[in-house]
Order: sequence, then structure tokens, then C-alpha cells
Amino acid sequence: MEDYALPVVPDGVRAAIDHLVAKREAVILSHYYCRPEIHEVAHFVGDSLGLSQEAARNPAKVIIFCGVHFMAETASILCPEKTVILANIEAGCPMADMITGDALAARKKELNGVPVLTYVNSPAAVKALSDICCTSANVVAVLRSLPSKTILMTPDKNLAIHAQKFTPEKEILTWPGFCPTHHRLNLAEILALKEAHPQAEVLAHPECQPKILKEAHFIGSTSGIIKRVADSSKKEFIVLTEEGVLHPIRKNNPGKVFFTPRTAMVCPNMKKNSLENIISALENMDPVIKVPEEIRIPALRAVDRMMAVPRD
Ligand code: 13P
Ligand code: SF4
Repeated sequence: MEDYALPVVPDGVRAAIDHLVAKREAVILSHYYCRPEIHEVAHFVGDSLGLSQEAARNPAKVIIFCGVHFMAETASILCPEKTVILANIEAGCPMADMITGDALAARKKELNGVPVLTYVNSPAAVKALSDICCTSANVVAVLRSLPSKTILMTPDKNLAIHAQKFTPEKEILTWPGFCPTHHRLNLAEILALKEAHPQAEVLAHPECQPKILKEAHFIGSTSGIIKRVADSSKKEFIVLTEEGVLHPIRKNNPGKVFFTPRTAMVCPNMKKNSLENIISALENMDPVIKVPEEIRIPALRAVDRMMAVPRD
């Protein structure tokens, strides 16, 4: 059995956050990839799809978003009446930066009417030019919901190649984007890890490269991986996604053991969010993320279409 020490949130910090949350009528949302102490003060911790759904349904007037910029933008797209604050304005996403509205507009012109499916890990201006969005939790269901055979999928090439395997009836055109945190995994290291722990179930996120996914027993979104650990009869797991998921899975599965690659799977942007940022965001009501209406309305159409598709 693994010993797992829970992160400590100093009493004074917790009291300050609770006081400010009540004063601002706020809710704190965190992605699983944020630091463990952020999970402990957040009112909701989820994957990209779960966070969008929670932002839309939570009655709070103020959303403090612990995640990266595109996630706060998605909340702003869904809930223009709420004040959405990104805890740390420096928290961007390199994959989202691998596509722009102008670049997508140029590609759409070349493709002449091919529908565009865009991963939520993208700027609002790209969503606005897309027919529908997806997350790693619903990508296959979203693809199957589209009548067209040929679809351009942006920006994550690895996710597109993974989804193609489940939708042979489709022709998926890809965009050359990737998540540096997942893409950098080294095959030799994963093979050695499997050899060292032959009983372990290998769990991987679809942002990993195809050669890595081939070695996995289970491929799923962040929430999918967390659920799989709870449901599996296995006692050992090799976890191939951002290390933030280790907090909930270690906390909730004390009888199970987890192995991770030596190549650190850390998203430096998610880790920029801190308890101090949360206090500052609540005190100053800043930095606000607000998507302009001319982008928000078409982006909402693409996000709403995704939200109407049930999860896999
Ligand atoms: P999910 O939250 O959909 O698993 O995506 C992982 C990710 O990279 C978020 O930035
Ligand atoms: Fe972007 Fe990857 Fe970080 Fe997710 S984990 S925010 S895709 S860099």
C-alpha cells in the first residue's frame, strides 16, 4: 500500500479564501492538472468537459478558474452574464497557441466546405470558425454525430489519429498541433516501465503519441482515467498523463500503487495557479476573461453543439 500525504492548506489561507468566496458569491473551479492544494480549496475539480458543464450550471455569479486561458474563455463563452476570472493570467496552453483564427480561415478556404471539429484546447477565435467542438471525453461521440464523411480536426493531431481508429467510416484531416506535456513521452522508457511492472494496467491520455497509445490498456480523458482506476480490479497502474491526476487517484484508492515515467509529465502552465493567485483574484476581481460578443456568439454555437452530444 502507498503512503500518501495530503497537501496542507494553512488554516489562515483557507479562512481567507472562504471569507472572500462568500463575499464575492464566487465558485472556484479547478482542472485536475492544477496543484493538489488547489484541488483541496476548489468547489469543483474536473476535466475540460466537466469544467465547462459545471461553469454553465453553477449559480455563482463569479467563477474563479484555476486552469489555463482557453478554459476560462470557454466559461466566458457559455456564461457571458458571469464574471470569469483566471487565477493566473500567465497560464496559457502551448497547444492552443499552435492554431489561430487566421490560419484556420486560410485552411478552410483550401478545403472548401469541409466541416471543422475543434478540440476545446484552442482559442475562442478558432472555436468561432468551427462547426463543433469536442474534448478528449466526447471526441468519438462528437465525430459520429457529424453527417459529413470528411472532417478537419484541429488542433491536436494525436487526438485526431486516436479518434480515427474508432471512426473508420470517417476521413479525418489533421492539424499539426500537440500537447508538449503528453507528446514528449519516450517509447523506450514506457517499454522498460511495463517490463518492470508486468502486472500493471497502463492508462494513457489520447494527447500521447500513437506509438505510446499502442502500449496502453486503457485510453481516456483525465476523468476517464480517474474512473478507470476506481473501477479496475488491478492493484498496479502505470499512469501516462499529467501528474495532477495522481492526487485524486492516490487519495481515493489507498490500496493501489501507481508508477509514472521518469520523463516528468508536468504542465507548467497548470502549475502556475497558486493559492495566492486565488486570494488575489477574489480580492481584486481581476484578471477577468471576457470573450467579445462578435467571437462569443459563433464560438457558442460550436460549444453548444458539443454540449448536446452525450459523453462516451
Ligand atoms: P481533458 O481535461 O479533456 O482530459 O484534457 C486534458 C488537457 O490537456 C487539458 O488541458
Ligand atoms: Fe495545454 Fe497540454 Fe497543458 Fe493541457 S496539459 S493545458 S493541452 S499544454
